[in-house]
Amino acid sequence: MPNSAHTATAFANPNIAFIKYWGNRDEALRLPVNGSISMNLDGLFTKTSVSFNSSNYDSLTINNSTIKGKGLERVSAILDLVRAKAGMQAKAQVISENNFPAGAGIASSAAAFAALALAASKAAGLALSERELSILARRGSGSAARSIPAGFVEWQAGTNDEDSYAYSIAPAEHWDLADCVAVVNAAHKAVGSTEGHALAGTSLLQNARVADAPRRLEICRKAILQKDFEALANIIEQDSDMMHAVMMTSRPPLMYWQSATVEIFHRVRQWRGQGLPVAYTVDAGANVHVICLGEYKADVEKRLREVEGVSEVLVAGVGGAARTED
Ligand code: DP6
Repeated sequence: MPNSAHTATAFANPNIAFIKYWGNRDEALRLPVNGSISMNLDGLFTKTSVSFNSSNYDSLTINNSTIKGKGLERVSAILDLVRAKAGMQAKAQVISENNFPAGAGIASSAAAFAALALAASKAAGLALSERELSILARRGSGSAARSIPAGFVEWQAGTNDEDSYAYSIAPAEHWDLADCVAVVNAAHKAVGSTEGHALAGTSLLQNARVADAPRRLEICRKAILQKDFEALANIIEQDSDMMHAVMMTSRPPLMYWQSATVEIFHRVRQWRGQGLPVAYTVDAGANVHVICLGEYKADVEKRLREVEGVSEVLVAGVGGAARTED
């Protein structure tokens, strides 16, 4: 049995990006070409336990399934960084569970690597700062850097391993927003974001998207701080559309949208025109994250369930920081 001093459990929420991360200047270090802003998703979480032990290899279980190959390698790479920092060699058993369904259009890698960074560093006896945890999580999955701090979070692109990390720009209680995730059945399995980032530079539109990022970040940050929903709605839709324009014009092209995805765009714009505070944003998949003021979430959920091609709607408020069990 592993010594309890070498065991720790951590929880982290996934997040939805308002200003997207798409493309790296350094693929290995996951240094992004532009900064990004997101909101943590309350109520949805990954719980991860790490136990350093006397085994000869690292092991990984996700939702009761044993994971080997690339998935395990990606986790071992983070454990290696932790071992190097702590000056230890012990292998680890990693057990992880998500309370949200796989394939529900919520990126699990952000919550997974944030929880792993926190649980592994604590189990190794390290007391890392929020900044150090964000950097460690980033090495596993870029968007995981943003699941370490609380509430509304900005990941500054930085230029090297030490200055590319995320911090909170407003706590969860600052603004009652909700994310109603309309799950759209995709006909094909989407190309994963790691492969997608590597293609971003092949689109002629990527340079323009990156050059304009400081403007979008500024507008988004201000809209959050001033709780200006209309400004937030316009900038997150523009940012999502720009990222998808890059995806669609990459070589080979990536087309994530399904018919229902586009149908929801039209409805959301129509609803907003009629005075309902809603806006859409889409990650590397077909599902649409419909952001609204918290008081309208039941109405928005109901409307989304009526759209043909929507199989499920998940609703989340604004989440807090990654945390350990005790
Ligand atoms: C479209 O963080 O999933 O969701 O670093 O390769 O794990 P890796 O990529 P990931 O990319 C997220 C892409 C996105 C936009 C975003 O969350 O900012």
